[in-house]
Amino acid sequence: MKEREEFGSRVAYILALTGSAVGLGNIWRFPYMMGEHGGAAFLITYLFFAAVIAMPIMLCESLIGRRARTGTYDAMKILSPNKGWRLLGGISVFAAFTIASYYSVVGGWSIDYLVRSVFTGFKGLDHYSAAALSYRVFSSPWEPIIFHTLFLLTCSTVIFFGVRKGIEKISKLTMPLLFLLMVIIMVYALFLPGSFNGVKYLLKPDWSQFTPKMMAAALGQSFFSMSLGMGAVLVYSSYSKKSDNLLSSACWTVLFDSGFALIAGFAIMATVFAIGANPGSGPTLVFETLPYIFSQMGLDSPLAARLISIGFFLAVALAALTSEMSMIEVSVSHFIEHRGMSRAKASLLVFVLAWIIGILCCMSFGSLSQFKLFGYTLFDLFNMVSSDVLMTLGALGFSIFVGWVMDKAVVRDELTNGGTMKGNSILFKPLYFIIKWVAPVMILIIFLTNLFL
Ligand code: PHE
Repeated sequence: MKEREEFGSRVAYILALTGSAVGLGNIWRFPYMMGEHGGAAFLITYLFFAAVIAMPIMLCESLIGRRARTGTYDAMKILSPNKGWRLLGGISVFAAFTIASYYSVVGGWSIDYLVRSVFTGFKGLDHYSAAALSYRVFSSPWEPIIFHTLFLLTCSTVIFFGVRKGIEKISKLTMPLLFLLMVIIMVYALFLPGSFNGVKYLLKPDWSQFTPKMMAAALGQSFFSMSLGMGAVLVYSSYSKKSDNLLSSACWTVLFDSGFALIAGFAIMATVFAIGANPGSGPTLVFETLPYIFSQMGLDSPLAARLISIGFFLAVALAALTSEMSMIEVSVSHFIEHRGMSRAKASLLVFVLAWIIGILCCMSFGSLSQFKLFGYTLFDLFNMVSSDVLMTLGALGFSIFVGWVMDKAVVRDELTNGGTMKGNSILFKPLYFIIKWVAPVMILIIFLTNLFL
């Protein structure tokens, strides 16, 4: 049998995990969620969940992956004789695949806006024409399909090259560039007159917004942002070395992801307040409000506005690409390991399937906008079901699996590398307690209160 691929180093593994985590969730979703849920109150709740629930769940997924050294479905098969758990593996492959399909549509929009920034810029847009532009971009019969195709094709090509030559190479290249771009944009934004109100907005908590709904939103966002509950971390970790420290890798990833979300949040809110735009404008914040802002900036400094808008949409596209790669890899590794396909065949198959579903998602902003299931368009349905329901249930499943189904000695062995890591051995007890009790109980309470309240 061919030897299974591995990441070349611990740094490569952490960068790949960070690449999966840092994505549209940080630049597109996080700022608007914060805008909708009361700024700093949301931020504090989010950071709390990131440290206390998301990090331990990431640990669960990574230790399952590294122990089983295979994709999600087969990992469940290897680690538990109980067939019911395979359902969790199957659901996570399904969730990863559906998210990959609609995520590629948004990834396509970001390439579209990048191309516009390069060739035309956003000169002369006012509020209305910025909204009209995004409407045109989203609902045109062919434009989003072309860019979705381009985005998905790039991603599938990287995946076709495999773990070392594909995922690792691209993550090492894009992650430092992405952070650099975002920091430059944030510094520029913080120097704009009036930007300080945006900073205040992010730092002043409005606790009246602290409701079960907001908690559920913050928890869901932490799972989405850290790619949890659908096997992406599991699959990447199955390519990590036996000598890697899973705990410190998970901590670094959570730190990088939250740090990046904060940088993006400050950059975007500082700019939004400097221009006097609406911070709570929702999902359209990045694609509607920002182009308007770039056009306003361009009145005083056209070159800076142009460069910042190019840098910004380049960052969005790169962040989206490395996240999409991890979702596609979940399905590709499944077809390779479970069905015995070659990587080339599996990459092609997943590309074609995700491409077709992605096209339907593109059309749900245009010709299929009247087609609704349970009151949602296809895009909204995928977005809602996969991130609000499947990811949360997946995360719950993985924590129960590690806390209640796997042998405790095996869990300790993975977390402490056979007892050789002193620090991890000391932390094992509290971590295990969180995994077994705190995380599942909190997820369940928040999930149910949100469902019924
Ligand atoms: N974490 C990615 C983001 O923040 C999204 C993602 C979800 C990636 C699930 C992989 C798996 O955009």
